Order: sequence, then C-alpha cells, then structure tokens
Amino acid sequence: MSAPKKLFIKTYGCQMNVYDSERMAEALGGEGYVETKSPDDADMILLNTCHIREKAAEKVYSELGRFKGLKAEKPDLKIGVAGCVAQAEGQEIMRRQPLVDLVVGPQSYHRLPEMEAKAREGEKVLDTDFPEEDKFEKLKNRPKAKRGPTAFLTVQEGCDKFCAFCVVPYTRGAEVSRPADRILREAQDLVERGVREITLLGQNVNAYHGAGPNGDKTLAQLIWELDKVDGLERIRFTTSHPNDMQDDLIEAHGTCAKLMPYLHLPVQAGSDKILKRMNRAHTAESYLRLIERIRAARPDILISGDFIVGFPEETEADFQATLDLVEEVKYGTAYSFKYSTRPGTPAAERPQVDPAEADDRLQRLQALLTKQQREVQDSMVGRDVTVLFEKAGRFPGQMVGKSDYLHAVHVADCDRAIGDLARVRILSSGANSLAGALID
Ligand code: 5AD
Ligand code: SF4
Repeated sequence: MSAPKKLFIKTYGCQMNVYDSERMAEALGGEGYVETKSPDDADMILLNTCHIREKAAEKVYSELGRFKGLKAEKPDLKIGVAGCVAQAEGQEIMRRQPLVDLVVGPQSYHRLPEMEAKAREGEKVLDTDFPEEDKFEKLKNRPKAKRGPTAFLTVQEGCDKFCAFCVVPYTRGAEVSRPADRILREAQDLVERGVREITLLGQNVNAYHGAGPNGDKTLAQLIWELDKVDGLERIRFTTSHPNDMQDDLIEAHGTCAKLMPYLHLPVQAGSDKILKRMNRAHTAESYLRLIERIRAARPDILISGDFIVGFPEETEADFQATLDLVEEVKYGTAYSFKYSTRPGTPAAERPQVDPAEADDRLQRLQALLTKQQREVQDSMVGRDVTVLFEKAGRFPGQMVGKSDYLHAVHVADCDRAIGDLARVRILSSGANSLAGALID
C-alpha cells in the first residue's frame, strides 16, 4: 500500500467554516488523505477562506504568496482555495495567484474528490456552482473515528435577509434548511463517536424550516427532537436573526434542559436610522423587547451580540444610541467590527464615515463591551455551574471545560475525564476564564 497523502487545511472565519473543513477532510479521507498540522509535509493545501470583511479576504492572498517556495520545492503539491473568497472571487484568484490549482465554493465540497483527481492530472479546476443536491449527504463519512466532546452540525445555510453591509447572501446563497431526519442521523452518529454537546450552525439558524415527517420543522421542534437523543447532553445554536426568534424557540429556552442558557443575537447598531439603512427590519426598541421576553423565559441566559461601527452615514449621535443599547442589554460577550466596504453590497455605494472616527468609535464600544463581559464573568463567582470537560489543563490534575454559559472553567484536583459533565463551584474569575472546584 502506498503511503497516505497528506492534507493541510487552514480555516478562517466562522464556525461554519470549521465544520466545512472537517467535511472536506472526510471527503478527501476517502481518497487516501490524512490530515497534517504542517503545510511543509503536505501533498495538498486547502485554505478555507472568509470574505465577510476586506481584511479577512486579503489574508488569503498573503498566505498563498507564502507557499511559493514550498511549491517550487514540491511541484506535486496541490494548492486549493475553498470557502467564501473562492465563491466570490474564484476566477480572480486563479488569475492573481498562478500557484492555485483548485478553487471550490462552499456548495461544491462533495465534488472535491473528482476535483482533486483532475488537479493531480495537471488541470486547473474551479467549481463555484450552487447545485440542488445536499452536499452534506454526498460527503461520505470516514469509518467511525472517535470525536471530542463538542461538535458543530450545520442545519441551515445561506441567508435571505440581505443586510446592506453583508456578503453572505451572495457567497453562501439563498437560505436552505437540511431535512430534520438527516440532521438527527448525523447527531446520533456524533454522539456514538463521543460527542456530548452539539452546536447547530446556520448563517441564519433560527430561520430553520427543514422538512420533517409531518411537514416542516422549526428550529425549536428540531431542538426538541435532539433533546430525545440519549447521550447528547447539551444543545446550542448560532447565529440568529432577531426577526426569526419565534415564540416556540423563546419558550424552549425556559423548558428544554439540554438547551444551554446562551444566545448569540446580533443587533449590529442601536440607532433606528442606521438599522433601517442596514436593512435590518427591526428597531432598537423591538430588539430590547425581544431580549426582555427571552430573559423572562430564561432569566440567567447570557446574551452575546455582533456590532458594526462606522456604517455609512453613522453620526456620533447614532453611535451613542449603540452605546445606550449596550448599556441596557448588558452583554456577556460580544463581537464588534469596524464597517468594511464589501463591493457589490448596497452599503458600498453610500457616503463612508471617516476611518479615524470609526476607529475611535470601535475603541469606545469595545471598552464598554469588555467591561460588561468582565462584570458578567465576575458575577459567576460563588455560583454553581455545570462544566463539560474538554481537555487537560496546563497543571497536573487540572481539567478545563466550558460552563453552561460558555465560560472557560479551570478545575484543579479534578478526577474527571474528557467528556464528563460535573457540577462546579466557581471560586474566582481571571482574565479570560473562571476557576472552580468540583462539588461532591
Ligand atoms: N463590515 C463589518 N462587519 C461586518 N459583518 C458582516 N459584514 C460586515 C462588514 N461588511 C459582521 C456583522 C456580522 C458578523 C458575522 O460580521 O456584525 O454579524
Ligand atoms: Fe448577513 Fe446575517 Fe444579515 Fe444574513 S442576517 S445578511 S448573514 S448579517
């Protein structure tokens, strides 16, 4: 038997890409590839790219440039670009960077084995179609490899919301939900391989409406089906749009014990003028009322968000409205970005905010969000939480895991194994994690 070929995948961007990279590794595993942690000994390098902000896209070109020497040494090395930059600029990548042998968009990963074979024959291959078939169904699984205790599972892809700043509706296409039975089978399989916590993924995950035996299922109905899977202990989902937060999903946060008290619910901005121009189709007030209802269902829920500052025509007063909204919500964690112009999106055509002004606003917003994050994390001290252990800590006898609220928790003198759940009393709060002790 010939030695296995080696595959190096570098993943940029969101969790969806992490999930897709795993699927690509599995697909190429069927062709005799094993993963390697270093590009130096790879026979194939895949960059799974992100196009959400300009910086993310530019990174791809600089990374590709770095492989020049490697390719000169190893002419058989194949280099591929996958993900959203591949989808958006496939032809351009091939033109700009002759090192690239293969370009594959997010909807075509099941075709990777054929594409790899063509690339091996010296062809340049590009596939950025939006085919009808379910790419996940076509991606064959490796024999049941053991998995860590947490996993992502894509249930929905694409987005029909067309926020004025966002490339996702163009790069990932229209909203498509996977049928519920396939998701349940995949979840069952993950649990058999050691997974205890599943995070359901979708660009607009709470718009999920996948086919079930008696008509379409909502995300809440899917969660209730997953709740019945023995051995699955925790369910999370991301990312949600405020306007798709249906009553049954809000209710599930109060009634489904496996659904974790953590919700990522981006608002982007606090000014109604800006929200309207962003085409968000909600107001600051409607978002705040929604948060109130979610907290009524699950008072201890940790809220997370995304923010954009410096969106075209954002004034200081508009920005102040974002700060006011943040003050009111009190976020447990948040991601904030400076607006980045994405060609082809409606906002790209509008008058831009002075970059120095946008930088200053980003700093001020991040200072407030960091303070809130710290306060929420500190408020855990003295409380009892459940921790799912994910790995050994740096010190002998120490284990590290995540609480229900997704805080990292270090536990000393811990006799539990990876994949165990245990009740832990939180004793202190550090820079980015909590420390606690097992409760007998
Ligand atoms: N500029 C800056 N941030 C953006 N996001 C999406 N598009 C842009 C853009 N053009 C942010 C949003 C979104 C997150 C995934 O990335 O906050 O929720
Ligand atoms: Fe992009 Fe999210 Fe808006 Fe969809 S809902 S267009 S993915 S920001």
